[in-house]
Amino acid sequence: MSKPIALAADHGGFELKEAVRAHLDEIGVAYKDFGSFDGASCDYPDMAEPACRAVVAGECDKALLFCGTGVGISMSANKIHGIRACCCSDAFSAEYTRRHNDANALCMGGRVVGAGLAIYLVDLFLNTPFEGGRHQRRIDKITDLEQRG
Ligand code: RB5
Repeated sequence: MSKPIALAADHGGFELKEAVRAHLDEIGVAYKDFGSFDGASCDYPDMAEPACRAVVAGECDKALLFCGTGVGISMSANKIHGIRACCCSDAFSAEYTRRHNDANALCMGGRVVGAGLAIYLVDLFLNTPFEGGRHQRRIDKITDLEQRG
C-alpha cells in the first residue's frame, strides 16, 4: 500500500484544503490531515512543520500545503531539510517541478486559485514522475546547500 499524502493549511488555505481532501476521498488516495480542522486563525509555519516532518520521516509520500497565497507555507516548508516545496498556480510548473526538481510538496493559495484548478494541479503533481538523470545532480546540489547551511 502506498504512503498517505500529508495535508496542511492555515486559515487562508483551509477551504482549498477541504476541497482537495474531498477530491482525494473521491479518487481513493490516502492522506493524513495535519489541520487546520476548523479554519480558525493560525500560523502557517506551525501548520507546515508536522506535515513536512512526516514526509521527511518517510511516513507520508508528499505534502499538499495551503495558505492564503501559498507563499508563506512554501517558505516555511523549504526551511525543513529534505523538503522541496513549490508554490504553484499553473500546470506547467506543477508538472515540471516533479519532472525536474523532484518536488515533494505542492503549495497553493486559497486566495489565488480556485478549487477546480487546484485539483487539476494536485492530480498532475501526484501523477508525474521525476526524470532523474542530469536533474538528480541538481537535486544533490540543493541538498548540499542545505547541509552547508
Ligand atoms: C494569512 O492571512 C496569510 O498571510 C497567509 O495565509 C499566507 O497568505 C501567507 O503567505
